[in-house]
Amino acid sequence: MRGHSILIASWALAVSIILNGRQLCSGCFLEEKHALLDFKASLDVTTNAHLILSSWTGKEGDGANDDCCTWERVRCSNITGRIVELHLSDLRENMSEYWYVNINISTFIPLKDLRALDLSYNLFQGEVTGCRNWAKLQNLKSLYLGHNFFHNNIIPCITAITELKRLSLVDLDLEGSFPIEDFKRLEKLEFLDLSYNQLSGSLSFKGCRNWAKLQNLKSLYLDWNKFNNSIIPCITAITELKRLSLSYLDLEGSFPIEGIFTCYL
Ligand SMILES: *[C@@H]1O[C@H](CO)[C@@H](O)[C@H](O)[C@H]1NC(C)=O
Ligand SMILES: *[C@@H]1O[C@H](CO)[C@@H](O)[C@H](O)[C@H]1NC(C)=O
Ligand SMILES: *[C@@H]1O[C@H](CO)[C@@H](O)[C@H](O)[C@H]1NC(C)=O
Ligand SMILES: *[C@@H]1O[C@H](CO)[C@@H](O)[C@H](O)[C@H]1NC(C)=O
Repeated sequence: MRGHSILIASWALAVSIILNGRQLCSGCFLEEKHALLDFKASLDVTTNAHLILSSWTGKEGDGANDDCCTWERVRCSNITGRIVELHLSDLRENMSEYWYVNINISTFIPLKDLRALDLSYNLFQGEVTGCRNWAKLQNLKSLYLGHNFFHNNIIPCITAITELKRLSLVDLDLEGSFPIEDFKRLEKLEFLDLSYNQLSGSLSFKGCRNWAKLQNLKSLYLDWNKFNNSIIPCITAITELKRLSLSYLDLEGSFPIEGIFTCYL
């Protein structure tokens, strides 16, 4: 009899765990679905609205469409049922003008297992808010933000995501000296693409030593920036580097530029 009630108790516990998290009928977590719908609403689309994320509908009892894991550009974990990847690049559907959108990072916070977020090629203009909450996306390993107009204000936001392994900041209108002081926190970074910005390198010796903290960095793309030769000693401080791209910079001297290869050969 005692064994029986323990069995019932553990059954009840299991059921309540399931009900607390996953919504049994709809197939995806309700709070995650709402987060996606909030993001879609924030896009505030007027032209081609029926084409942009058209499978993202909120109607209850809408058959397959109600399960946000089946929505376009969304990938869920087979194990947890949570969203792990969001591929939201190039959403514009022939919109030729820049797209004025205020991205609210807080919108993504319910996606606790999010590992990859791609917002690239949207030509988003506007503010990025809720930035401090980015630190809560502690499972985020890949972040692709390229080809938007986020400017330098995006940098303090990104450097809060300390688990990042892959980061693309291509063509974001970043300018001035590269804030390595902030980036040194991203010790797990393996891939960093900073190309097509106006970054320069007034890199002090101290700044250079900070590059050495990026000890997992294997690929570094710096093309089409304003870095000059003063960046070279800094690059040589990154000991694990396997891929390095330096085209269209303000480098001078004959190739191979002294210093770059001596460290690896
Ligand atoms: C889930 O399983 C399918 C089919 O086995 C597989 O193609 C897909 O990659 C898996 N998804 C994830 C996120 O692992
Ligand atoms: C987008 O542009 C392409 C090429 O001009 C065209 O074939 C397609 O129909 C357009 N799509 C929409 C939704 O307007
Ligand atoms: C951002 O989203 C959060 C959560 O949905 C909300 O509380 C906050 O007011 C939003 N901030 C802005 C500036 O819209
Ligand atoms: C390199 O760039 C930095 C900052 O942009 C500047 O201070 C420095 O004079 C430049 N060095 C050379 C050799 O041009």
